[in-house]
Amino acid sequence: MTALDFAPLLAPGLPPPAVKFNGFPKYNFTGGHNDGGAIPLDALVKAANDVLSREGRTLATYGLESGPQGYRPLREFLAQKLKRTAGIVCSADEILITSGSLQALDLVNGILLSRGDTIITEGETYQGSINRWTKLGVTAVGVPLDGGGMRMDALATALDDLKRRNVQPKYIYTVPTVQNPTGTILSEARRAEMLKLAEQHGVPIFEDDCYSDLIWDGKRPPALYAMSKHGGVIHIGSFSKSIAPALRVGYIVADWSLISRMLTIKTDAGSGALEQMVLGEFCPKHFDSHVPELTRALRSKLETLMDSLNAQFGTAAEFEDPKGGIFLWIKLPDQVDTMKLYQAGLAEGVAINPGPEWTIDKAYGKSRTRLCFANASHEAIRDGVAKLAEICRREFGVPDRIANVAQGARG
Ligand SMILES: Cc1ncc(COP(=O)(O)O)c(C=O)c1O
Repeated sequence: MTALDFAPLLAPGLPPPAVKFNGFPKYNFTGGHNDGGAIPLDALVKAANDVLSREGRTLATYGLESGPQGYRPLREFLAQKLKRTAGIVCSADEILITSGSLQALDLVNGILLSRGDTIITEGETYQGSINRWTKLGVTAVGVPLDGGGMRMDALATALDDLKRRNVQPKYIYTVPTVQNPTGTILSEARRAEMLKLAEQHGVPIFEDDCYSDLIWDGKRPPALYAMSKHGGVIHIGSFSKSIAPALRVGYIVADWSLISRMLTIKTDAGSGALEQMVLGEFCPKHFDSHVPELTRALRSKLETLMDSLNAQFGTAAEFEDPKGGIFLWIKLPDQVDTMKLYQAGLAEGVAINPGPEWTIDKAYGKSRTRLCFANASHEAIRDGVAKLAEICRREFGVPDRIANVAQGARG
């Protein structure tokens, strides 16, 4: 029997097929995976047991007994947590639970963007957001960052330039609190400036805040959403970074006038209920004590990564010590092409994220790379960086000293 050939039946314009998952590379520095050792397993098991024993029969209805915005106790936890930590005053009715904050990106984009639109973003930013703009046919204007996040003088210039060209940007997308990939935190003063500029130009701000719990000293500036006096900010967040990405639980905070529009394009009849119930049970009791344990583990892995890079790459790897999060953003010497380094590394079990996938200006990203330090063990971080240095040296001639041994001398 010959199998039916689906190829001629496929809808036009589909992306290329996905590659099969064959397990993670031995040294995996890609993606936003979390620290397995820091998952609060016992408390999650107990929360699952407690909530299911008590309320499990509500699984019989779509949306439990909470409606399409998601499990109400979880939304209530978020409302009080966001008030306490980010200064956001909102009710559970202004929160929509999503399947990860990736769905939040889709819903916000879905109600605001059409082909041909323009948005403004940090010049270095999240690949998942960049790919969405590309797919939607939206032009992203990148604003440079410095050690303090998006530069407000450059934002003002970008807004003025667009105005001169009669282009009204649909939003300013920002990851202001532990930026991906740079790890920077936008100060309260810069936030005020951004809000002022946005208001002057009548542009909304799209605040993506999924790393804001992972700050080493636990101190964060208020959210842009909290500081805005005139609305105009949509805030999204996630439990992926503070608890676990496989749960796929994110959220949107916005005025009901926007949530009500997003609900009409959220056509999945509700995000997975079990994980929402477990989080709704776990978080009020344990979130606050879990986060410092997680950040301690992450900080310690970051130190192993920075020490390993210093030992193996010396001055060839330039980076700032990030204020939190799970990533280190690294500049390698100009001759290094990280797209090629990525391919060469993969062949030998070292996976890195090449810079051009995280930058609006691809040339700017050429010699940059993002390494996630959360998931690999300390030993894998050390060995993986040593291997990466060898591969980099072989492919590009740098670093010229590895672990303080001049490479020429090895013959
Ligand atoms: C800035 C940013 N936004 C959104 C996401 C999506 O995360 P999730 O869908 O797991 O919440 C990520 C993941 O890495 C991210 O870095």
